[in-house]
Amino acid sequence: MAGVVLSGVTKVFPGGTRAVDAIDLSIGEGEFFSLLGPSGCGKTTTLRMVAGFEAPDAGTILVGGQDMTSLPPERRGMGMVFQNYALFPHRTVAENVAFGLKMRSVPREDQAKRVRNALAMVRLQGLEERRPSQLSGGQQQRVALARAIVIDPTVLLCDEPLGALDKKLRQAMQFELKALHRRLGLTLVYVTHDQEEALTMSDRIAVMRAGRIAQLGAPREIYDRPTSRFVADFIGDTNILEGTASGHMLHLDGWASPLPQALPPGPCAIALRPERVRLGAPGAGLVDATVEEANFLGDAVLLKLLLPGGTAILARAPRETDAALLAPGAAASLAWRAEDPVPLEAA
Ligand SMILES: Nc1ncnc2c1ncn2[C@@H]1O[C@H](COP(=O)(O)OP(=O)(O)O)[C@@H](O)[C@H]1O
Ligand SMILES: [Mg+2]
Repeated sequence: MAGVVLSGVTKVFPGGTRAVDAIDLSIGEGEFFSLLGPSGCGKTTTLRMVAGFEAPDAGTILVGGQDMTSLPPERRGMGMVFQNYALFPHRTVAENVAFGLKMRSVPREDQAKRVRNALAMVRLQGLEERRPSQLSGGQQQRVALARAIVIDPTVLLCDEPLGALDKKLRQAMQFELKALHRRLGLTLVYVTHDQEEALTMSDRIAVMRAGRIAQLGAPREIYDRPTSRFVADFIGDTNILEGTASGHMLHLDGWASPLPQALPPGPCAIALRPERVRLGAPGAGLVDATVEEANFLGDAVLLKLLLPGGTAILARAPRETDAALLAPGAAASLAWRAEDPVPLEAA
């Protein structure tokens, strides 16, 4: 019912900024769908057009098969959580949450009950009479969330809702938001520039770049099989190695890496995750490299090594790795499986 379909959606701001450039997207009912990308790539503008706060210059937006493109926000059945919470500072928690119900002329008795339910959903019972300034950042975020879900939206839109929280709280809220999504069973469109957040929470992710979708897929697919250098770089630590392909091999500076498939001869770049790089005694791998730095991460060690020719490469080694291989200046061999490198499309 409440899938969201964008076709050719475009927004050009006065001055000519093409903030969103002919986006096509089909978000499934009940899906946790993230728009992920660097600042300025058009995430907020896309979300605001879905919400109805911004009118597209071209294209259509369907929800549950119904054309919403020219409906005002309050008639779209959507809840929205804004990046800066946008709470009314002089109203109480209960009044803030009741706002959307008032706008929709819900009877007073119903309002009180629904506000109570929504506050219980985000575990804010007992704080009804406080004002936003008397709440922590995390609590304010919950009020914003309660205000969005109190109207029983079929679609919930969230614009970097956890961006202002510290790391621990953000992680806790990520779990809560996912649980809430499951309980409510609604379609959730989530905007973030934080790749880790998108990877952990989403059913699918659209990676955006300059108003367009660079890649769309499940988190594992985006992480394991980035198709472009932009996505490979944006999603997690990665190595990009450039060489010359010839069949199943990529030839680099006097050494070669196996490739997962035969490629046409010519210049080629591959992405290789640091955790795929295995360390061994010198001479035992595909290539020897010199350890430049080793950073202890707690559960692993992140190494920066220099390849022949001076290119740097990151390797994530288990903390149990032979200490002799982890010292700056040490020589180590590097190896990976043929299926580990991901050939990238030309930029
Ligand atoms: N109201 C506006 N007027 C003019 N330009 C805007 C406006 N809102 C956003 N932009 C521009 O559109 C582009 C996309 O912005 P936005 O959607 O906010 O990106 P994101 O949320 O991904 O950071 C940026 O270049 C931004 O400067
Ligand atoms: Mg934004």
